[in-house]
Amino acid sequence: MEITSISSKPGAKEERIDLTQITLRPLNLSDLDDLMIWTTDEKVAKFCSWELYTSKDDGINFIENIATKFLWCKAICINDRAIGCVSLSSSSPGDKSRNKCAELGYVLGSKYWGKGVATCVVKQVVKVAFCELSYLERLEALVDVENAGSQRVLEKAGFQKEGVLRKYLVMKGKSRDMIISSVLFTDPQL
Ligand SMILES: CC(C)(COP(=O)(O)OP(=O)(O)OC[C@H]1O[C@@H](n2cnc3c(N)ncnc32)[C@H](O)[C@@H]1OP(=O)(O)O)[C@@H](O)C(=O)NCCC(=O)NCCS
Repeated sequence: MEITSISSKPGAKEERIDLTQITLRPLNLSDLDDLMIWTTDEKVAKFCSWELYTSKDDGINFIENIATKFLWCKAICINDRAIGCVSLSSSSPGDKSRNKCAELGYVLGSKYWGKGVATCVVKQVVKVAFCELSYLERLEALVDVENAGSQRVLEKAGFQKEGVLRKYLVMKGKSRDMIISSVLFTDPQL
C-alpha cells in the first residue's frame, strides 16, 4: 500500500490521520461493539443497501453469516480497532459468465470521513484483489448518483466511470440511479 500522512479537510475535528496505522484484517466477534457504531449511524447507512441495525443480534449476524459469505471481507482498522469494513462479493452469484468479476463495497464510521482513509483502503484492495483472487479480471462498484464522496474515492483509486444505471435498485424504499465504475487487472495500478 502506498502510505502517506494526509491532512484532513479544514474544519474537521481531527487534523490528521496517519494512514500508516490503517490495517485490514478479518472481522471477528470481538469487533461487535465497534461495528455497531457505524451500522447504527443513519449518515453511514444512507447510501447503503442494508437497513440500520437495531440490535447486537444484527451485528452478530453480519459477522457470522454475512461477512463470511463474501468472496473477501476485512475490517478496516486503526490500532487494531475496527472503524469500517471493505468487501468483495460475487457480481452475479451463480452466473458463470461473470465469475471473473467481483463487486467492491466499503463503509467507514463517520468520525473518520474526509481523511483519506477510504481512498487508501480501496487502492490497497485493488492490488490485493487481483493478487489474492488471481482469477479476477474486473472489479466493479455501484454508487448512488448522490453519493459524491464514494464516487470520488473510486475515481482517486483508478476506477473508470462506465455509466448510470437508471432506477437500478431499491434502497431505503426508493428506486435509485446508480453509477457503475470498474477497474480491470490490466489497468495501471495507482
Ligand atoms: C464514502 C466514504 C467511504 C468515503 O470515505 P472517506 O474516507 O471519507 O473518503 P476520502 O477521505 O478517501 O475522500 C476521498 C475524496 O472524496 C471526497 N469526499 C469525501 N466525502 C465527500 C462528500 N460527502 N462529498 C463530496 N466529496 C467528498 C474527499 O474530499 C476526497 O476528495 P479530494 O481528495 O479531491 O478532496 C464514507 O463517506 C462512507 O463510509 N460513507 C458511508 C458508506 C458509503 O457510502 N459507502 C459506499 C457505498 S457505495
